Amino acid sequence: MVIVMGPDAVPADIEAIVETIGGAGGEAFVSRGVSRTIIGLVGDIAQFGTLDLRGMRGVADVMRVTAPYKLVSRDNHPERSTVRVGGVPIGPGTVTLIAGPCAVETPQQTLDAAEMAKAAGATLLRGGAYKPRTSPYAFQGLGEAGLRILADVREQTGLPVVTEVVDAHDVELVASYADMLQVGTRNAQNFALLQAVGRIGKPVMLKRGMNATIEEWLMAAEYIAQRGNLDIVLCERGIRTFETATRNTLDVSAVPVVQRLSHLPVIIDPSHSGGRRDLVLPLTRAAIAVGADGVIIDVHPRPEQALCDGPQALVDGDLPELARVVREFPPLVGKVPA
Ligand code: E4P
Ligand code: PEP
Repeated sequence: MVIVMGPDAVPADIEAIVETIGGAGGEAFVSRGVSRTIIGLVGDIAQFGTLDLRGMRGVADVMRVTAPYKLVSRDNHPERSTVRVGGVPIGPGTVTLIAGPCAVETPQQTLDAAEMAKAAGATLLRGGAYKPRTSPYAFQGLGEAGLRILADVREQTGLPVVTEVVDAHDVELVASYADMLQVGTRNAQNFALLQAVGRIGKPVMLKRGMNATIEEWLMAAEYIAQRGNLDIVLCERGIRTFETATRNTLDVSAVPVVQRLSHLPVIIDPSHSGGRRDLVLPLTRAAIAVGADGVIIDVHPRPEQALCDGPQALVDGDLPELARVVREFPPLVGKVPA
């Protein structure tokens, strides 16, 4: 932590700060410049956080120089991590394709979508049994019946299952069927849910809150890690901006930024970012080019009948190009398909 003193600060102001920091068990290093004095603090930052340093006489600014997240930080864990989901790696060196229907609707629709996913090179199946919908009148998912369908389709296709949990009370139930739990954008700062998935001991995919800064996203991941679960994959799925031409604005820069700050794998969701079928393949190419450790993509056998997000689902005709991109792009960035 660094304190920048204002130009009018007098020696007594500086001494008061040094004493306050000493009293909190820390050390203050004073560096006197020509026009300003800067004080560097060393010690327990959490302890300093309880002091009203900003309110002390002569202080112009207080800046944190270490990240507030610890367990997910790369400072603590310089090697980038690989998370394994039913044996499938997500991490540096690989690009993992997770694909499937946005929502589980029927056994046949889910199986058809899973077969489409597999044909495109997916090694993990996505599908929501609990859907977080804007409207309470929209399809909310099949609940446990949907989880059973996912488990059956896993049996038939061999694809491990990634599925969303929207309520802390359902975490055990969803975890009893899923290989990876998804926390969606709308629940990205639901701290009770984050703690519950942190306790369950299954890999978790944490989507970025649509209004979350990267620091807020990493702090949300810290909630999961703090409960003992470091098997976390971060998913950039587009953020809210002034732009209305796309459903959300895909922040591709989040991938290299987060990979520098955190050891956790980072993937991209091109379906929910663009919200339009015609954007999914271009955004998938961008995702792999920027170094994402995977992509999660909606596919649907009959999107015109889909109960959720049909317009962004890839169809049969898109699969050869998806398969080509997932096969040929990773080697261009020093990775292999997972
Ligand atoms: C998707 O998977 C979400 O449930 C969906 O994008 C919700 O959006 P909507 O309810 O606004 O359609
Ligand atoms: C989803 O992937 O099913 C989903 C609900 O996505 P998001 O949370 O990104 O909207």
